[in-house]
Amino acid sequence: MDRIYFDSAHDDETRRRQLYAGAIYVYSPRPSLRALCDHARSMIEEAFGGLDPRVAQHAMPVERYVEICAPLKPRFIHHPRTKELIRAVLIEMGCDLEETYQDVPRLRMVTSDGYLTSGVGYAHHPHRDTWYSAPLCQQNWWVPIYEFEAESGMAFHPSYWARGVRNGSETFNYYEWNAVGRRDAAKMIRGDTRKQPKAEEPLLALEPAVKLVVPVGGAIVFSAAQMHSTVANTTGRTRYSMDFRICNLRDLRERRAAPNVDSHPHGTSLRDFLRARDLAPMPDEVVALYDDASAPAGELVFRPQS
Ligand SMILES: [Fe+2]
Repeated sequence: MDRIYFDSAHDDETRRRQLYAGAIYVYSPRPSLRALCDHARSMIEEAFGGLDPRVAQHAMPVERYVEICAPLKPRFIHHPRTKELIRAVLIEMGCDLEETYQDVPRLRMVTSDGYLTSGVGYAHHPHRDTWYSAPLCQQNWWVPIYEFEAESGMAFHPSYWARGVRNGSETFNYYEWNAVGRRDAAKMIRGDTRKQPKAEEPLLALEPAVKLVVPVGGAIVFSAAQMHSTVANTTGRTRYSMDFRICNLRDLRERRAAPNVDSHPHGTSLRDFLRARDLAPMPDEVVALYDDASAPAGELVFRPQS
């Protein structure tokens, strides 16, 4: 990874090629992203019932915080307005709705000072999403919901773009994760015992790390193959962000994607992706290109309990 594009005029095709080559894109605020943030803020603020969500962690025991956030996540993820607003973002950002497939967005809260670093507030160790069965052509869109600082954001570790590390992806099974790992997120309050793929050698080149800070209404876009992590938040305020992932059907069919340096998980998350135009499912024959038969019985798609 050797380049970051700010407010680039690249079309989606060029952007995808660049992302697969390790580039990162940063966009300053635009109307569709602002609308998505406003919607997220109003849902978060309603859930906290008048408390400022950024400092609510200081006003309640962590169990109460989890009680508020655990149902808030699926409520936001599956809200019809959320899907509509993401489609508007894709249109504004030049994605072809016929070829672009999107998954449901994730809502993240990263509390300060180690208040909650597991389960619903999991602080991600350095990883590639492709260790977790994401397709190598997946593009991640990361969107802050409130202003944040470098000390409460996300870090990229560019030295590892082209350098593979020994890791646990080989024993990761996406269908098992859907059946067990995700369901149990809200139970993980004091520690996280869920089996997740991690580096299995010392990561000596995490620095220099790149921490991009964008205003609310802006976005950071990167390949699922980028090594990235959650910055240990020391700001005294909880960071709220969302991210959603997309992939392009033509690229999937033609296997155009980021290079695979060290991802060997089982199963695929492709069934989570729906066509942006009408939320039609990913064609079976495309899923079959990426699925591997060694996946034991589990849940093909994650369905959060409401
Ligand atoms: Fe990630």
